[in-house]
Amino acid sequence: MCPKVLTFLLVASIQIYTETYGDDFTVMSILKDYWENTPRNWVGADPCGGKWEGISCNNSRVISMALAGVGLIGQLSGDIPSLSELEDLDLSYNTGLKGSLPPSIVNLKKLRRLKLVGCGFTGPIPESIGSLELLESLDLGLNRFTGKIPPSIGNLSKLVVLDLFNNLLEGSIPVSSGTTSGLDMLVKAQHFHLGRNRFSGTIPNELFRSDMILIHVLLHDNNLTGSIPSTLGLVKSLEAVRFEGNSLTGPVPSNLNNLTNVTTLILSNNKLTGPVPNLTGMAYLNYLDLSNNSFDASELPSSLFNLQALTTLVMENTGLEGLIPPALFDIPSLQTLILRNNKLSGELDIASSSSSKLKVIDMQNNSISFYSETPERRNKGIVILVGNPVCEHAKATENYCTVPQANSSDTGPPEKCVPLHCISDQISSPNCKCSYPFRGVLFFKPPCLESRNSTSYEHLEEESLMRSFKLHELPVDSVVVSFPKEGLFGYLESNLSVFPSDRNHFNTITISEIGFVLTLQTYESSDTLGPTYFKGDPYPYSAGEPTVPDKLSRTGSLIGAVAGGASFLLLLLLAGVYAYRQKKRRERPSEQENHFAYLDLKNSDSFPRLKGASCFSFDEIAKCTNNFSEANHIGTGGYGMASLSLFSCPALVYRGMLPTGQLIAIKRCRQGSVQGGPEFNAEIEVLSRVHHKNVVNLVGFCFERGEQILIYEFARNGNLRDSLSGLSGVWLDWMRRLEVALGAARGLAYLHELVKPRIIHRDVKSANILLDECLNAKVADFGLSRPMDNSELILATTQVKGTAGYIDPEYQKSLILTEKSDVYGFGVVLLELVTGRKPFERGRFLAAEVRSSMDREKDVFNHHELLDPNIGLDTKPKGLDKIVDLAMKCVQENGSDRPTMGGVVKEIENILHLAGLNPDAESEATSARFDEASQDDIPPSLREEEISLS
Ligand SMILES: *[C@@H]1O[C@H](CO)[C@@H](O)[C@H](O)[C@H]1NC(C)=O
Ligand SMILES: *[C@@H]1O[C@H](CO)[C@@H](O)[C@H](O)[C@H]1NC(C)=O
Ligand SMILES: *[C@@H]1O[C@H](CO)[C@@H](O)[C@H](O)[C@H]1NC(C)=O
Ligand SMILES: *[C@@H]1O[C@H](CO)[C@@H](O)[C@H](O)[C@H]1NC(C)=O
Ligand SMILES: *[C@@H]1O[C@H](CO)[C@@H](O)[C@H](O)[C@H]1NC(C)=O
Repeated sequence: MCPKVLTFLLVASIQIYTETYGDDFTVMSILKDYWENTPRNWVGADPCGGKWEGISCNNSRVISMALAGVGLIGQLSGDIPSLSELEDLDLSYNTGLKGSLPPSIVNLKKLRRLKLVGCGFTGPIPESIGSLELLESLDLGLNRFTGKIPPSIGNLSKLVVLDLFNNLLEGSIPVSSGTTSGLDMLVKAQHFHLGRNRFSGTIPNELFRSDMILIHVLLHDNNLTGSIPSTLGLVKSLEAVRFEGNSLTGPVPSNLNNLTNVTTLILSNNKLTGPVPNLTGMAYLNYLDLSNNSFDASELPSSLFNLQALTTLVMENTGLEGLIPPALFDIPSLQTLILRNNKLSGELDIASSSSSKLKVIDMQNNSISFYSETPERRNKGIVILVGNPVCEHAKATENYCTVPQANSSDTGPPEKCVPLHCISDQISSPNCKCSYPFRGVLFFKPPCLESRNSTSYEHLEEESLMRSFKLHELPVDSVVVSFPKEGLFGYLESNLSVFPSDRNHFNTITISEIGFVLTLQTYESSDTLGPTYFKGDPYPYSAGEPTVPDKLSRTGSLIGAVAGGASFLLLLLLAGVYAYRQKKRRERPSEQENHFAYLDLKNSDSFPRLKGASCFSFDEIAKCTNNFSEANHIGTGGYGMASLSLFSCPALVYRGMLPTGQLIAIKRCRQGSVQGGPEFNAEIEVLSRVHHKNVVNLVGFCFERGEQILIYEFARNGNLRDSLSGLSGVWLDWMRRLEVALGAARGLAYLHELVKPRIIHRDVKSANILLDECLNAKVADFGLSRPMDNSELILATTQVKGTAGYIDPEYQKSLILTEKSDVYGFGVVLLELVTGRKPFERGRFLAAEVRSSMDREKDVFNHHELLDPNIGLDTKPKGLDKIVDLAMKCVQENGSDRPTMGGVVKEIENILHLAGLNPDAESEATSARFDEASQDDIPPSLREEEISLS
């Protein structure tokens, strides 16, 4: 075949590749590597076909990413904007997501909902956000964004929700002028949540227009000045207006009374003057707070008495004086009345209005001189008159002369069922189903009480939330709100748990929707609750999956038949017992050491005996890392993040020194990600029997106090990727590179050919090749390794794993894993050594690029642009052609056309020999040792591969 045809075919096949998987595939792979704690089922090549948790697609393009509360750690990568079909992006409640919102977000032209509530974002909101024409919901609340509101947000003509609540934003609220845009242009908007920032200046008159359909205007707890604009009275659709906690002055405009749909009006903690406003027009008003203003001293305005829907009236320190009008107690719905620090006088006479629903009357520090409490009244609710003349006489021992102490309500709702004792971290829901609840903190203004019996704050809140979730058709079984405690800004704080109904855990989409319902602060179905907001905790998504990986459970019957049902059951049982102990220990924090798993390792016949690796106590490890100090934290990369075969956990890596002076690298599973013992043990069992000069050595492990820790020898010179990119400061000349290649090849050949059962590394890449103090290569992180049986092939029933740019195309198509997949990865590493480039960069694969260059011109030295200038290009590096030849053979499309790792070792030895360097001829026999274990020593969980083939 002539070269031209070949090139054409190659280009065509690259195009087909790109069309099949789209760029989205690569972007998602990059994100997967870039973020920590991505969902555990993010494996395989295709995020769409593979049903990755939280990812929805249309025609192989990613259109939605819902990852609320996953516990993601990282930043918003500059790669996200390549997902050009994305419509929904919800990364809320991932407090580990930090950094800024990249201006390139503007490339997500189809984005309709951007939700980043409750993360750790900082920096300004990019001006470019105003170009996302289709945006309907912009939720950036509960972050630490700084700077001003970009006026361009006014261009988002479809925007319904603008949530910037609780950030560090400053400056004035932008409105349009001749040349610039502003928030007044958002005629579709229903929610302006701008509370709790540092906005200053006046609330512009132009902000409100009669053609707006706003229902929430929340500007509370800022530094706004000036008066309340009368234009607010034009927005007839308003339901909640909150301006509290600013420095607003002047009178309340009288036309607010035109806002007939308002249910919540809070103007407290300002410097408002003039008369207490006449609000008779607000027929649905149920929550009114006018406290701490400088209104004209006056009697309680009679206009209030007409408010039929009013349940909560708060007018603390509002200049009220005169007698308490009995009509106040005729407000039919009133439940909470707080009139502290005024000058109200005379008699408090509630008895005459027997129909009153009042539960709380707090009139501390007034001038009330008489109150006669009837037993009937006492049963109905609390009256507090501390600081009034009526409590000043010597024998003032009445209930109403003390401030009652809040204590947790003893009368919970009657139990509907017998609570279950659940395993692992599951919790028995109020309906007595074991499941994983979505939890977080619910902040709310003191709500009002309904006239229902034996219900208290939290139960009302629960009912209201349930109604909301039902209305949105969310699969919620039940809700638990804890007894509230006092929080900041006059909020109460309760812990909220939302339990799933149809399964024992929520999926990411539902968490996203629950989060949205809670951030909207609109409980359509409720007429009793005060303002609320919510901050979610990470959700234990992966906990909901079975303890044993899918594959194992699917092949369970086979294993049962071959290995004997009993041992499989034993494994499950041990996993269960372990999980149960874990839970017990968390419940009882009295740090009892758990030698349970350790003992299993040593004594139980069901586990292999370990050779080489020692068991460390947690204290020993804490000591040699200086208590896991920040200074010893060497990151998550390198040996870092990869998931182990059966046992996987996102890990942090620390450096430490043993009392013997040996440097070690400590890979510690993140808290909360620790898994069942059998997988961990199986992993140690394999690792501890692998000994080769070019393979990173497992020094030990620790498995106690709920920790899972692996301890490796420390490679002082970091990894090959970092030295090629100049990050580690280690410079490799051409000869060094050949030696590194030889070392890594020997390590892999050992794993393939000498270890029994043989090991396929599965994630060969430059980042997994470490360099010790003598620049010896050490293959590390058998993150994805699987032991092999003696046959040539392994049918990988799991999905394709690996790192973009290194994945064997044959394996990707056939899902058949062979050693040749490692050979492919190694070929790419060789190309990195030659070019210094990354295997996948700016949408281009290194292997394909070198191949097409080579097809055009055989002599690689003529492709100067491809070669790494750091290897010195004055003269042709010795053996360059042969190395590139070898690399090209390794990255052949068909595995059968590639050499074996043993063949690769021989070829590199030859090349080094020809280049005049005598490769150290240390024979495998002396440099390598493998502690053979009989097949019986291998736990069933590791034998499944061959079993499923048989
Ligand atoms: C609010 O604004 C005033 C006047 O501009 C300023 O003195 C004060 O420091 C500001 N307060 C905050 C919390 O920013
Ligand atoms: C007031 O609320 C009612 C009921 O929700 C609604 O039908 C009506 O359109 C609202 N009024 C305005 C002016 O939006
Ligand atoms: C709104 O209120 C103002 C003053 O209170 C009044 O003059 C005006 O007629 C009202 N507008 C409507 C549309 O009801
Ligand atoms: C309050 O306003 C209503 C109409 O908006 C009016 O009828 C009533 O007289 C006013 N009440 C007082 C006390 O000003
Ligand atoms: C409490 O309320 C329920 C309905 O809300 C009612 O059936 C029950 O009789 C009430 N109990 C008492 C003691 O008032």
